[in-house]
Amino acid sequence: MDDERQAPGLSALRLAGRQSHLKVGTTLVLGITALLQLNLRAQEAAQTDMFSEAEKYERFMGRWSQRLAPLFLKFAGVKEGERLLDVGSGTGSLALAIIGETRRAEVVGIDPSRSYVDFAAAQTTDPRVRFQIGDAQKLDFPSASFDRCLSLLVLNFIPDARKAMGEMRRITKPGGRIAACVWDYDEGMEMLRKFWDAAVLLDPAAARLDERNMAFCRKGQLAAFWRDAGLADVEETELVIDMPFRSFDDYWEPFLDAQGPAGIYVASLAPEQREELKKGLRNTILDGKPDGPFALKARAWAVRGECPALGIEK
Ligand SMILES: C[S@@+](CC[C@H](N)C(=O)[O-])C[C@H]1O[C@@H](n2cnc3c(N)ncnc32)[C@H](O)[C@@H]1O
Repeated sequence: MDDERQAPGLSALRLAGRQSHLKVGTTLVLGITALLQLNLRAQEAAQTDMFSEAEKYERFMGRWSQRLAPLFLKFAGVKEGERLLDVGSGTGSLALAIIGETRRAEVVGIDPSRSYVDFAAAQTTDPRVRFQIGDAQKLDFPSASFDRCLSLLVLNFIPDARKAMGEMRRITKPGGRIAACVWDYDEGMEMLRKFWDAAVLLDPAAARLDERNMAFCRKGQLAAFWRDAGLADVEETELVIDMPFRSFDDYWEPFLDAQGPAGIYVASLAPEQREELKKGLRNTILDGKPDGPFALKARAWAVRGECPALGIEK
């Protein structure tokens, strides 16, 4: 005997039950989606805060991007006459390196920070380069409109890197190369490694803010992401630069400018905690030697891969 004949209305009850399960399920999914969206929006707001003052960023990290950009460009490759997109162009280090090393290549740099875009644009009058506000997760360009897509020290800051990869693939011509680079925050980026080690020693809660927790900063992670995204001929390498500092203050003072995660952390400290951190770092950096010029090494992981021609995706 089926349920409906056994007890009329039972299937209606079951349906109502299923619907209420569905309702609970839907509410849960909607709740989780809303939370994720909230989280993404919070991340986006955090990016806006930490990348808001171009001159300060230049003093803090931009000067090192300028050193890294030519190495990255050599690895990523560029040919005369190509049209390139610089994703997260910041204060312009990579785009300006491209213009400096070619005669006919053209670059568009996009970045969500108005201050950085204006700063980058003020660095050159070369008509081959243009900087504009943009978001890697939603690129405002037609499909297959660039020969190459490069991104220097950005991918780990993008709230939804998969979305950004989808967009970079969309705007890059089949056969074109996509390349990116991220500091090795875990070990090889001494300037920030020393900073976070000293911070965590004094304040264990800082461990969760340590940039070593960020995506793509360990060997193999970028390459795995590139392969996962279906790119062909994927290669990863390390790029190493020297960071020469004039003195301890030349190292420390830019941390006070509230740019990037480390700067935001310093800004959150009470004055006496900040002083403690400065003292701890001074001891580590100078290591008993008199104050004066010193150099730290910085390693970044770089990856490149080709957008497969349509129909032969791996
Ligand atoms: C560490 S900085 C690197 C900037 C520049 N490429 C350089 O090497 O100096 C990270 C940059 O990523 C940008 N950024 C953050 N979220 C982004 C997004 N969704 N799309 C594009 N760029 C983003 C920031 O505004 C910032 O300029």
